[in-house]
Amino acid sequence: MNAIENQESAHLDTPPGVFDSSSLDRQAYLFSQSYLACPTCNDGSAPLIRIGDEYECANCRSTFPLLNCSNREVAWLFANADTAFAEWRDRYLSCLKHLEEEVCVLERRLKLQNVNKLTRVRLRHLLSAKQAYAKQIAEIVAPFNLAGRGSSTTNDLLLSRNHGLTSYITNVFRDWAWHNGELEVMFNVISKLLDEAKVKRFGKLLTLGSGPGGLTSRLEQFYPLDASIRFDISPLFAAIDCAMATDQQVQLYEFPIAPLDTPSTAVLRSCQDTDDCGVKNLSKLSKQQSAFVLGDMHNLPFTNAAFDTVLTPWLIDILPGALDRWLIKINRLLPMGGTWINTGSLNFEASDPLNRYSAEETMDLLQQYGFKVQAHSFANIPYLQSPASAHRRMERVFSFCAAKVKEVEPRCEDVVRPNWQLDPTAPVPKNSAWQYACSQHLIRAQVLGAVDGRRSVARISMALSKQYELSNTAARNVVDSILQQTMEKPKY
Ligand SMILES: C[S@@+](CC[C@H](N)C(=O)[O-])C[C@H]1O[C@@H](n2cnc3c(N)ncnc32)[C@H](O)[C@@H]1O
Repeated sequence: MNAIENQESAHLDTPPGVFDSSSLDRQAYLFSQSYLACPTCNDGSAPLIRIGDEYECANCRSTFPLLNCSNREVAWLFANADTAFAEWRDRYLSCLKHLEEEVCVLERRLKLQNVNKLTRVRLRHLLSAKQAYAKQIAEIVAPFNLAGRGSSTTNDLLLSRNHGLTSYITNVFRDWAWHNGELEVMFNVISKLLDEAKVKRFGKLLTLGSGPGGLTSRLEQFYPLDASIRFDISPLFAAIDCAMATDQQVQLYEFPIAPLDTPSTAVLRSCQDTDDCGVKNLSKLSKQQSAFVLGDMHNLPFTNAAFDTVLTPWLIDILPGALDRWLIKINRLLPMGGTWINTGSLNFEASDPLNRYSAEETMDLLQQYGFKVQAHSFANIPYLQSPASAHRRMERVFSFCAAKVKEVEPRCEDVVRPNWQLDPTAPVPKNSAWQYACSQHLIRAQVLGAVDGRRSVARISMALSKQYELSNTAARNVVDSILQQTMEKPKY
């Protein structure tokens, strides 16, 4: 019998009417068995059944592992669990490889004779920090054994190529190390919104794209809830969230974008749920009340109407494609009257201008997809302002609180990835983006190929200007910039 089953039988043995504090746990535990649905079936209707250390879909029989992270169970609920392991393994290994290459460059630079003393001090500091950082990252995600899992390789890309294991890692320092008040500002923006919308409790809360979990933790301290589920695609964030939830300390180097001085080029941060507001642990949720679920927004592994409140902090701006698709998915997770709280920017990632919705369009869409906006606000807030960086960002965030007032029909078509990505035998359609990229690469290859140890920039430019009918100056600029960029890229 596992720990959860033990607790269940303990609860079931308790005479009715004397549940008191544990009744919440029992309620949450029973809930925890019912909110998960199969991500492969992807319509919220196929429940998952727990069998030992796995979940199995009652419908398609796909299985999904449960992983132990800081003594908390993390459900690995990607539509194809093995493919997801393979993808995260690749990202994990390429993150370590990249760090290895950085270390290699630093070592080479330190071997040069003419490096001045202060530069040497900075490079040594950076070198030991990068070496330690690689170990820290490996240690943090060790519970997922990423290097040793995932047999298949596939074209079914889960994540865009620029989403790596350490994407958004600065959020970890903001949430758990800087203590610079940014989380409180965000919290205040949301609590003002909730006051206006007269939302006083969360019931069962789901945070989508929860990241390292700081904002959710703050909100949990002040709004009564029955359960809190965090959902994200990143194993690194799952591990950090679990460590924070169990009061562990995580040591991690921060590499600020614009370091203030030599020590700031790499700052060892101690990430921990130390409380700033004097209420630490009061709200620590029991294992039955809170959980981290790993998965992908494309295949949300939750039953229909499972949550009373859905929170999306800085998420809708980075999701691919049109917002419409995501509104339908979020609608499905809530019962009538359920609350959706959103905060963050709009429009960051949409490559198609059609999908870069303004706040007005977003409000209009909300109505169209079954939501009634109860309150909304715009606020200028500090964003990722590392105390060790000269780079200071402010964001004007758009927040809203909306109630679900109408069911919307799910769309059968939910393909974000183009067909040529899903099917390696499908033709890749021709478009201007490929052609432009192709001509850029061709010119680059031509310029670099022309370097033979004898030709000058003037000669290479002349050949280019003839072939592409460019003026001498334009050709010279192209050659200069290609050579310059290539020279600046360290070789390994
Ligand atoms: C901009 S970050 C915001 C993180 C967090 N909400 C915060 O405010 O710090 C976006 C988050 O969405 C997650 N994410 C990105 N694509 C996702 C997907 N397809 N499914 C689930 N989570 C995703 C990222 O891992 C990241 O944690």
